[in-house]
Amino acid sequence: MPVLAIRVNDFGDPSVLSLEEVPDPVAGAGQTLIEVDTAGVNYGDLLVRRGEYFGRKALPVIPGWEVVGSAATPDPDGAFEAGDRVVALLDGRGYARKVAAPTRDVVPVPDGVSDKVALAMIIQGATAWRLLEDMKPDQRVLISGAGSGVTHLVVQLARLRGAAEVAVVSSGGEKSNRVLDLGADLVVRSDGDETLKERLTEGLGGRKFDLAIDMIGGETLQAMLRQLRPGGRAVIYGVAGGEPAKVNTGALLKNGLTVYGLWLGHSDGWSLREIMGRLFELVEAGQLAPTLGPAFPLARADDAHRAVEARTGVGKVVLDCREV
Ligand SMILES: NC(=O)c1ccc[n+]([C@@H]2O[C@H](COP(=O)([O-])OP(=O)(O)OC[C@H]3O[C@@H](n4cnc5c(N)ncnc54)[C@H](OP(=O)(O)O)[C@@H]3O)[C@@H](O)[C@H]2O)c1
Repeated sequence: MPVLAIRVNDFGDPSVLSLEEVPDPVAGAGQTLIEVDTAGVNYGDLLVRRGEYFGRKALPVIPGWEVVGSAATPDPDGAFEAGDRVVALLDGRGYARKVAAPTRDVVPVPDGVSDKVALAMIIQGATAWRLLEDMKPDQRVLISGAGSGVTHLVVQLARLRGAAEVAVVSSGGEKSNRVLDLGADLVVRSDGDETLKERLTEGLGGRKFDLAIDMIGGETLQAMLRQLRPGGRAVIYGVAGGEPAKVNTGALLKNGLTVYGLWLGHSDGWSLREIMGRLFELVEAGQLAPTLGPAFPLARADDAHRAVEARTGVGKVVLDCREV
């Protein structure tokens, strides 16, 4: 029997997100079928819809990388039973009422955790966790994107790990107050007459940072790299500004800096279930809370994308797949 899903038949603006009947997914080897209640919307879905996501150029495409729903079959390793509420990381096709998910990335959701929170924990939470994996207590962390859900979790996790200072580069507005509420020590605005380089030098009071975390690229990353101490590290996990940075390799050499990329899709030597277990523990203990945004009916995926695209800092946006 066909299932309802949101499909993109031509790349473009949010109006290309079309509610359609698609063939019923079939679970292959190592996959679990999930009856979907709620699907998460991520910034990367906007890039998929526009045809700008690297490696995702084929049409038609069903966007969406994360869902919450009930598992149709039990986990072979006993992590969940048939009918249990689970959250899953997918290789796409998440905006649908039924999906086939890689079983190793299907994680049971504790009773006290809502669908929205579970969805905020899987891509944004696991990314935030991995971005800080090598952070040591007493280190200084500089991160870009005050409106980003990942940033909101990085700020809280860095505090929990004993960061000496957490500074955020912000495009301004209410987003700056939100990261300060979550535990950031200071916000440096990227807008205004001065360059970001000047603003950072002034705003950070000459203090150098151990770790820079960037998902904007271009001049933002360049300016952040200048704030690293000798031997410091920069991790790049997005290029939301659209322009990759030109990196001064001479400065990397002179200052012994490490610059590397992190993409959650690389499953090298880490376990999503393990990370999710730690994140859910922190959520249940009241030590970690994502910023939550609105839920839209599946058929209104276009409005959901507009909400994320508006950059007003709305928090985690989800699609209610039971509603059309
Ligand atoms: N590598 C990975 O595995 C991975 C995993 C998750 C996310 N990501 C990437 O990380 C980024 C943040 O994800 P998220 O889930 O936190 O997204 P989100 O909550 O939707 O936040 C989007 C962020 O992108 C910024 N942004 C959007 N358009 C921009 C533009 N034209 N110029 C500069 N900044 C812009 C926003 O800036 P403001 O703060 O000014 O609003 C905001 O900080 C995205 O680029 C996403 O693709 C990568």
